[in-house]
Amino acid sequence: MADLPGPDDDLLAEQLAYYRARAPEYDEWWERRGRFDRGPELNEAWYREVAELEAAIDALGPFGDTLELACGTGIWTRRLRPQAATLTAVDASEEMIGLNRARLGDDSIEYLTANLFGWMPPRRFDTVFFSFWLSHVPPERFEAFWGLVGRALGPGGRAVFVDNQWIESATSLGGRLGDRDSTSVERQLNDGHWYRIVKVFHEPAELAQRLGGLGWEARITATAQYFIYGEASPG
Ligand SMILES: C[S@@+](CC[C@H](N)C(=O)[O-])C[C@H]1O[C@@H](n2cnc3c(N)ncnc32)[C@H](O)[C@@H]1O
Repeated sequence: MADLPGPDDDLLAEQLAYYRARAPEYDEWWERRGRFDRGPELNEAWYREVAELEAAIDALGPFGDTLELACGTGIWTRRLRPQAATLTAVDASEEMIGLNRARLGDDSIEYLTANLFGWMPPRRFDTVFFSFWLSHVPPERFEAFWGLVGRALGPGGRAVFVDNQWIESATSLGGRLGDRDSTSVERQLNDGHWYRIVKVFHEPAELAQRLGGLGWEARITATAQYFIYGEASPG
C-alpha cells in the first residue's frame, strides 16, 4: 500500500536527490574526514561513541532474518551481516546500493531499490534495522513509517535503530545543524550545492513514549553526546 501523496513530496524528492549526489562522499561524515574533520579532540570523542554504539548494537544480536531500511553505503550493513541469518537491504538510491554492494561483496545479501514512502515489505523478518533514517521521516509520516516496520516484522520480531542527537559538532564545518525543534534543514555537498532535507531530532524518553502510544514497547538510550539507539517490539 503506497503512502498517500503529501505536501512534503517535493521535500522528500530533494532529500533523495541529496543522498544520491552525496553517495560518493557520504562516508566522510562517519569517518570524520574532509569537512567533517573537527580536530583530534572532537574526532576522538566521536570515535569513542561510535565504538560504544557499535558494541551496544552488536550486543542486541543475533538478528535472524534481517531487513535493513535505508542501508546507504553499508557502514551498518557490514556490522549486521555476521549476526543476520539472511539480510535484505533497501535504499532508494542506486548510487548508495552500488557502494554498499562493492563494500560488502556478498552475493547472499538481497538488495532492493525502493522508496520507503510507499513500499510494501516482500515478506516478514525477525529484525528491521535502520540507522540515521528515522530522523529523515517527516513527523506527519512517523505513524505510517512505524506501520511499515510493523508489517515487516514476524512474530516475536523487533526493530533496532540508531540515530543522531542534536549537537553542532556532529555536522560539517560551516554546516547547519538546524533548530532543535525544526523538522527540516539545509545541507551542503562538497561541490557547494545546498539541499533541503527532513531532519527531526528524537530524544529517547519522548520517542519511547510516542512509540508506546502507537502500541510499541521501546527501550531507547543515548550515548554521551552524539547518538541515540534502541529497540522496539510491537506490543
Ligand atoms: C542518513 S543516510 C543513512 C544511511 C545508512 N543507514 C547509514 O547509517 O550510514 C539516509 C539514507 O536514506 C536513503 N534514502 C533517502 N530517501 C529515501 C527514501 N525515500 N526511501 C529509501 N531510502 C531513502 C538515502 O539514499 C541514504 O542512503
